[in-house]
Amino acid sequence: MRVLGVNAIFHDPSAALVVDGEIVAAAEEERFSRRKHGKRPVPFAAWELPELSMRWCLTRAGLRPADLDVVAYSFDPALAEPARDMGLSDPWDHLRLTYAEHAPRFLATALPGLDPDRVQFVPHHVAHAASAGLAAPHRRSAVLVLDGRGERASHLAGQYLDGALEVLASQVLPHSLGLVYESLTEHLGFLRSSDEYKVMALASYGKPKFLEELREIIYADGRGGFVAEAPDWTRWAPPRVDNGSWGGTHADLACSMQQRLEEVLVDLAHWLHDQTGERVLTMAGGTALNCVANSRIWRETAFDEVWVQPAAGDAGTALGAALASGAQHKEPATVMTTAALGRSWRDDELAAWLRAAAVPFSTPGDLAEQVADVLAADGVIAWFDGRSEFGPRALGHRSLLAHPGRPENLERLNDVKGREQFRPVAPMVLLDDADTIFSGGPIPSPYMLFVHDVKPDWQERIPAAVHVDGTARIQTVDPRTQPRLGGVIEAFRRRTGLPVVINTSLNTAGRPMVDDPRDALELFGSAPVDLLVMGPHLVRRAGLFGPEPG
Ligand SMILES: [Fe+2]
Repeated sequence: MRVLGVNAIFHDPSAALVVDGEIVAAAEEERFSRRKHGKRPVPFAAWELPELSMRWCLTRAGLRPADLDVVAYSFDPALAEPARDMGLSDPWDHLRLTYAEHAPRFLATALPGLDPDRVQFVPHHVAHAASAGLAAPHRRSAVLVLDGRGERASHLAGQYLDGALEVLASQVLPHSLGLVYESLTEHLGFLRSSDEYKVMALASYGKPKFLEELREIIYADGRGGFVAEAPDWTRWAPPRVDNGSWGGTHADLACSMQQRLEEVLVDLAHWLHDQTGERVLTMAGGTALNCVANSRIWRETAFDEVWVQPAAGDAGTALGAALASGAQHKEPATVMTTAALGRSWRDDELAAWLRAAAVPFSTPGDLAEQVADVLAADGVIAWFDGRSEFGPRALGHRSLLAHPGRPENLERLNDVKGREQFRPVAPMVLLDDADTIFSGGPIPSPYMLFVHDVKPDWQERIPAAVHVDGTARIQTVDPRTQPRLGGVIEAFRRRTGLPVVINTSLNTAGRPMVDDPRDALELFGSAPVDLLVMGPHLVRRAGLFGPEPG
């Protein structure tokens, strides 16, 4: 069975293709259109479909639209109610519903040959839940979904057993932990539905001064749901103007809300464990990208294992909708073993791109050693290898890499990316060395979805990778599954004694992550990167613009 999943309703439009239960392709529209987050998160943008990523998914599998059995759309307008009836004040919300209702015909226009009757609406939170419970390498799990909103809820708690979901609780709007967090994001001068991770990073600089007051108005209700309506934030601090300064009361507010979010999520997870007795918790929804909260759930609840969908935000609902539709049709369950589900190019195609750009390059037999030499000499590496990542994290396919031992490298990478200096960069660590250096979170941690404590004797050895609170959002790298990258880190360790490099996503200010070779070359041409690695090929800055270092 051939199922194309489509997310187009709120933000982060994306497409995913599942064939006979296997995840063939998944990608976010922004990586193709080069427009961050694909579109603005407003109701009047709901008509826009992820046309480029949909078409690429089909091309990747050699399918035509007419070959599809189902197009699974991750929102069901029949479940929604007028915004006012749900306690939301959005004068354009009805447009979103209208566009969703017409989506089958929009899709048939965008994908000529598709029968609009093959479009199936999948409830938004069922799609999120499936992206976790059906994609995880576990036949059964408790599943927890939290986001800003779906049709008329902001949460789902349930249980997956052999591909079937039982919903145990769901919190209806206007109560929404995601919307509360988004409203604080906006109050702190950041872009809502986009910059929530900045609030999480800023929280580390504050004190939980307002936590007690937030506990009175935001709390789990003991029945699997919660009370959470956005407070008037001006009660504690005026709106922040994003003028480059940060800290003070605004950081305290971020800290207070972050801690309250963590507490309520832990309460919800406790409830779900009590109800299900399951060993494994799977999670999705934008809130599951809060890696600080994820680690607290892992540490403080009775679940032995927590698996979070790497594309936990709305992009992941394209995959989840396809998986949910397949499960409904009794397709065999599929397991997601990697987030590298996007585009890739063969080695000879990459060489052709470099020749077309008239860029001198080499294809050395000892690539790992040469890259490690540059890293050890404090160079910044643009790393482009294999299929691009599905989800917001760079996981060693489209990454910027640097030396973790130089504290100034945090500022240097943030400058390359034109972003705030309170933002941390993350360590990649060889899997077998991870528990020597890090504690307090699950290992392996291949998707950067948890924070770990950096052990005290290592904090000074890898200062660029350590956040102000002594934590780090790690990615474990297994050389058996990522041999090229693993080989570089092993070679770097031989030179420095550090089995760690720092990693941040391969993009410059305000742009989506690099996806294709042209994006990589454009970044290399516009950012102070010393070495570009494209598959097995190396391009040196010095070789291009000056003499080779003697
Ligand atoms: Fe969502």
